[in-house]
Amino acid sequence: MDKRPVGVLDSGLGGASTLIEVLKALPRENYIYYSDCGNGPYGSRSTQEIQALAQNCGRVMLSRDVKALLVACNTATSSALHLLRQALPMPVVGIEPAICRAEAKLPAGHILAMATEATVRQERYRALRGELKEPARVHDVPCPKAFVERIELGIFDMDGYDDLLLTVLRPYEGLDVRGIVLGCTHYPFIQKQIARYARAHFQGAPRFFDGSKLAAQRLKASLRRHGLFNGDGNGGVSFFTSGRPEKTEPLFRFLLQQKLELE
Ligand code: DGL
Repeated sequence: MDKRPVGVLDSGLGGASTLIEVLKALPRENYIYYSDCGNGPYGSRSTQEIQALAQNCGRVMLSRDVKALLVACNTATSSALHLLRQALPMPVVGIEPAICRAEAKLPAGHILAMATEATVRQERYRALRGELKEPARVHDVPCPKAFVERIELGIFDMDGYDDLLLTVLRPYEGLDVRGIVLGCTHYPFIQKQIARYARAHFQGAPRFFDGSKLAAQRLKASLRRHGLFNGDGNGGVSFFTSGRPEKTEPLFRFLLQQKLELE
């Protein structure tokens, strides 16, 4: 047993959607969440920039004496997980778009994988796509950073994303879209807005998937494997950020209370 906290990292506040699942799977750990809001969004930056920022976050986490690191950011995972694993003397677990699970659960119809521009161009994501049985059914939808910027501003109006959704989803108008993969940890917080758009523009109502359950399972397995599991903590989450805590922490706490319904 190791009572040190687990570090959870994202470019911003989106990692709260992963942490919600992690808290269900591991309610008796303690957590430190680091939001790199001062440098995010990462998703429209170059791979080199993302790698440098993620490595810096890794050093910050190391200085806080965390026993393991969860990279609750698809963009940082796809761009820099291998570098973080090389650099840090602790288990490092990431999150990835749930395209394989969506394909397995949905035997027919189209699946849209919404993720940042950086995630979908990475080798790691291409390799994940390589595991698909029918890749032609799964369409990558690279999304501009404006999605993340609005979420970080706390914009949750039902029509608050229609303009952006129209831009990225127009090519799929009228299609039989059965599944939408939310491949960025911010997007689960606008699932209702995306579902509303989908009802108006696609046939039927798609099911939603994200990678947080698998990430939580992987973290749990890793803690057990390394003898780091703690059954004695209280699930407390402390928060710190490279941005402005007085603005970001209240929104983070609000997001952490949300009930998300994702497969
Ligand atoms: N939340 C991050 C992800 O899961 C990325 C957001 C961003 O910084 O662009 O991909």
